[in-house]
Amino acid sequence: MAYPDHLRTQVDTYLDALRFPSRAPRTDGLEEAMRYSLLAGGKRIRPVLALATAGAVGLDQASVLPLAAALELIHTYSLIHDDLPAMDDDDLRRGRPTCHVKFGEDVAILAGDALYAEAFHHLLTAQAGEPARVLAAARELAAATGVDGMVGGQYLDVAGVSATPADLRRLHELKTGRLIAASVVCVLLLAGAADDEETLTAWRRFAGELGVLFQIVDDILDVTGTDEGLGKPQGSDERHGKRTYVSEFGLQGARKLAAECHSAARATLSGSASQGAPELEQITDFIFTRTS
Ligand code: IPE
Ligand code: IPE
Ligand code: MG
Ligand code: MG
Ligand code: MG
Repeated sequence: MAYPDHLRTQVDTYLDALRFPSRAPRTDGLEEAMRYSLLAGGKRIRPVLALATAGAVGLDQASVLPLAAALELIHTYSLIHDDLPAMDDDDLRRGRPTCHVKFGEDVAILAGDALYAEAFHHLLTAQAGEPARVLAAARELAAATGVDGMVGGQYLDVAGVSATPADLRRLHELKTGRLIAASVVCVLLLAGAADDEETLTAWRRFAGELGVLFQIVDDILDVTGTDEGLGKPQGSDERHGKRTYVSEFGLQGARKLAAECHSAARATLSGSASQGAPELEQITDFIFTRTS
């Protein structure tokens, strides 16, 4: 499936140039661990989605690179912590030994913490735009990663408290959906749409479906993929007795629900102001058909 590789290249170049220095010379090891995980590859779905959204709403795509980088820094932090022995206890990520395997658990925890803080620091210092708009984007990003967002979803996951299919969807909306949705919504806020409820609602609907679709496919690939193809250990969910779309609905059921989510995302996309946004259509199809 076609993927907007030109956007991914822009993101990779930008991330590669980011440095995390400190006034104390001996923090090099921390920066090394952060960059090890950040620059290990990865599909860059969230920043690419941000750039594609910028294009769809008439913003210069390069102008949202600081926001896009912040999204990827936060995502990378979430992966480092997700892989820790106390969480999913995985030793392979993005085709490399996980951060804690390479640098130790203590440094991996700190690398995650630092990536999170540096994400907001970068957004609030490097992102151009009216201060009120940048602030609105930062507020959205913070909310999307807090208790009513990614970390809240991770809590529901580790606590194993989702009982019904509706609970499971909610878990996916929070742990994965909110950051993916923020990749779209924050760009809308930078474009000045904060008071345009109708537009925001349409985009939120699209981005929300896309986020849930992403995690349903992740659940499917955990069963059907390979370590090499995924760059992370296949079968991690089953080993940990995780409740997923596959454990809940079976492989065929999960595939059917993914197809429904994909259709819903496509429908909201063509029904909104984003009509004629080929990069967003490509990303939506890629998220559905991806194999890694
Ligand atoms: C993996 O995310 C974690 C989930 C939220 C499912 P990605 O599949 O986007 O991982 P990378 O960034 O490509 O490595
Ligand atoms: C984690 O979900 C989502 C995050 C917020 C990191 P998973 O635990 O299923 O992600 P993978 O499969 O390890 O990438
Ligand atoms: Mg997990
Ligand atoms: Mg995991
Ligand atoms: Mg997974």
